[in-house]
Amino acid sequence: MSENKARITVEGKTIELPIRSGTIGPNVIEIGTLYKKTGIFTYDPGFTSTASCESRTTYIDGDRGVLLYRGYPIDQLAEKGDFLETCYLLLYGELPTQRQKKDFDYRVQHHNMVHEQFSRFFHGFRRDSHPMAVMVACLGAMSAFYHDSIDITDPHQRMVASIRLIAKVPTLAAMAYKYSIGQPFIYPLNSLGYAENFLHMCFSVPCEEYKVNSIFARAMDKIFILHADHEQNASTSTVRLAGSSGANPFACIAAGVACLWGPAHGGANEASLKMLEQIGSVKRIPEFIARAKDKNDPFRLMGFGHRVYKNYDPRARIMQQTCHEVLKELGIKDDPLLDIAVELEHIALNDKYFIEKKLYPNIDFYSGIILRALGFPTSMFTVLFALARSVGWVAQWKEMIEDPAQKIGRPRQLYTGVVERTYVPIKNRK
Ligand code: SDX
Repeated sequence: MSENKARITVEGKTIELPIRSGTIGPNVIEIGTLYKKTGIFTYDPGFTSTASCESRTTYIDGDRGVLLYRGYPIDQLAEKGDFLETCYLLLYGELPTQRQKKDFDYRVQHHNMVHEQFSRFFHGFRRDSHPMAVMVACLGAMSAFYHDSIDITDPHQRMVASIRLIAKVPTLAAMAYKYSIGQPFIYPLNSLGYAENFLHMCFSVPCEEYKVNSIFARAMDKIFILHADHEQNASTSTVRLAGSSGANPFACIAAGVACLWGPAHGGANEASLKMLEQIGSVKRIPEFIARAKDKNDPFRLMGFGHRVYKNYDPRARIMQQTCHEVLKELGIKDDPLLDIAVELEHIALNDKYFIEKKLYPNIDFYSGIILRALGFPTSMFTVLFALARSVGWVAQWKEMIEDPAQKIGRPRQLYTGVVERTYVPIKNRK
């Protein structure tokens, strides 16, 4: 491989492909002309070695367990800032000044109500509908309510749509929760902060005063920061692919919510807590570790492993600290599920199989314990992930739309099906 060029020989023909470097991270071989020059495709079904785009938004170093939003380490943002500051950073690329932050908070706050017809939209669902099914529908339905911000060619409309998503997703998520438990919807209160307002909409009732616990509000806000964005994960790639066709932002985010729901992705927080409940006691951990290692058993330790992190997920560490803060505030000395989680983590991190495969706890391992302690049912866990990730999805969507090089995403395939054959009329088929 010569300086900034890769040489590849295919069926006796040698071609050179340019190599590009980013500011940090692995270089890339630009293969866009490979098919034209050689008549062959690359093949990488899980995109394990494929960069799908150029981005300046979020950087992950999986070997060092580093996560940066626009260059700022996640632990500094989570400890020192708030979620709306992270939203501003992801959308605009820089931390806001005090004046910019005040203006941004005001704009988000004054978009947090949804069209009053939305409440009637909810009444079409069964009360026991999974809240993620409701969220997929609601995000798509936003295209039906907010026509004045779906022209993706208009920078003003792109920003209005982004603010509307950040502002209205908590309101819709809280409505999905209230609807599932048969309680009345609670309107947002502009005197409250973002996370505080969300907890108010979820847990207050019309018949009595409700004061949000500030420790819980801070924990919720931190959890939103940790989940805000994560490079080109499956749901963000879904949003980008949907957006590459020119679909409106709300429809694209609805596609992202659908993808996030899977247990291998954002659905892992719900699956991880269910796994801890299934394990039930520290004594049964070895049985489940054995199952996780058994090739013939589809069971996996939910909340463990990651495509990119081959070291500890930096978010999981902050999540674990937050977990202890919330349980302490609740006066919970020994949460049996936390005991199982801590022991499971200890055993797994000292087990040869997990060490060799570099399987560490990820963001979903501890989040379920905190969310359950805050009062959410497991069915709401992935909704909270989607709420926080909406800003990452919309920031990446905006970046793609504003990239002059972007074009519709249209992968090819390795065809292994039947070759051409002639149609046989049904009367002649045996
Ligand atoms: C998220 O991409 C992102 O950035 C996602 C995310 C984000 O913020 O957007 O970080 C959020 O989705 C976190 C991941 C949540 N998912 C889970 O916790 C589900 C359990 N984890 C696994 O399903 C798995 O680790 C994945 C899906 C997360 C990653 O899978 P990969 O990268 O495709 O790895 P793999 O399936 O090829 O596994 C490599 C090996 C395999 O063994 P071999 O076939 O090589 O012998 O590790 C084993 C796997 O069997 N393995 C596990 C395991 N995860 C991988 N074995 C037991 N338990 C596990 N959890």
